Amino acid sequence: MDALILALETSCDETSAAVVRGTTILSNVVSSQAALHAKWGGVVPEAAARAHVEAILPVISEALTGASCSLAEVDAIAVTNRPGLVGALSVGVTAAKALAFSLDKPLLGIHHLEGHLMSPLATDPSLPFPHLCLIVSGGHTELVRVDAWGQTTILGQTIDDAAGEAFDKSARLLGLGYPGGFAIQEAAKTGDPARYKLPKGLSGDTLNFSFSGLKTAVLRLVEKEGENLSVADAAASVQEAIASVLAERAVRAAEAFGAEVLTLAGGVAANARLRELLNRESNQAGIRLVTPPVELCTDNAAMIGLAAAVRFGRGERDDLSLEALPNAPLP
Ligand code: KG4
Ligand code: ZN
Repeated sequence: MDALILALETSCDETSAAVVRGTTILSNVVSSQAALHAKWGGVVPEAAARAHVEAILPVISEALTGASCSLAEVDAIAVTNRPGLVGALSVGVTAAKALAFSLDKPLLGIHHLEGHLMSPLATDPSLPFPHLCLIVSGGHTELVRVDAWGQTTILGQTIDDAAGEAFDKSARLLGLGYPGGFAIQEAAKTGDPARYKLPKGLSGDTLNFSFSGLKTAVLRLVEKEGENLSVADAAASVQEAIASVLAERAVRAAEAFGAEVLTLAGGVAANARLRELLNRESNQAGIRLVTPPVELCTDNAAMIGLAAAVRFGRGERDDLSLEALPNAPLP
């Protein structure tokens, strides 16, 4: 039987714990700090670390209760140890080390983006290789060729802002608050995506992205339209600009190396319009699209557990010298 793994995630502003057995998720508890950071309009690292300290033990208890298991039954402790806000990461890493040491259980440090990359395993436990993954989060926008778990090549990425950042900054300019992605999606429901023409960044056959021009264009639009601005139409136009360029480039990248499967991961992967466009375009190209459930798109510990299940199964272990690292390349 696969190992029972308790996974922790505290790299940014969600405190999360999950219990997984192989690719089966037994529990996944996420305590979001969004309300705390909303008043500042973004994540304040000091406040995030303090909130993780308060939430981590109750979140772990709830995850164990949800999975109907005790700490003694757990076979290994996994934790996001890189990359992220170092103070936030340290809370999870310290908790995981304390548990591993006191219970005498193996410890495993997981790369946050590898967690996102493996989140589609919840939908399809036997994803074929090579496949292409579009990772779109608050800090990353990457087209990743996955030849095997741990063997990845970045085929394209943003040269400035991440897609999630573009959603968040545009939402702020439109007065929609934080976090912005979901707020834009909601406001866009009644909006006309063709009303305002917004730039999609780099053109031509590149696999890279640029979203900083979009942010500037939204600022100009807000200034120019003043009180006449339709927030719904602007939100729909922003969403369309971001989602259409992501979908077009992801499908083109998958076609370029003959990938049969395209996967989607990261907070922005929760976006319904992006899912709709990717579905349509991958269908037309004869590529199978595998998307994780929406609750596994934004930060969560279940995806860290899925990545840990693969690495633990291969015999990988870390020792108590495991460190929280703010920067680290995708393995
Ligand atoms: O993966 P994630 O939870 O954290 C990072 O690792 O960055 O991604 C957070 C990002 C934020 O920028 C948020 O606005 C965006 O994901 N997001 C969305 C949606 N839900 C979250 N963007 C567009 N549409 C959504 N429904
Ligand atoms: Zn993330």
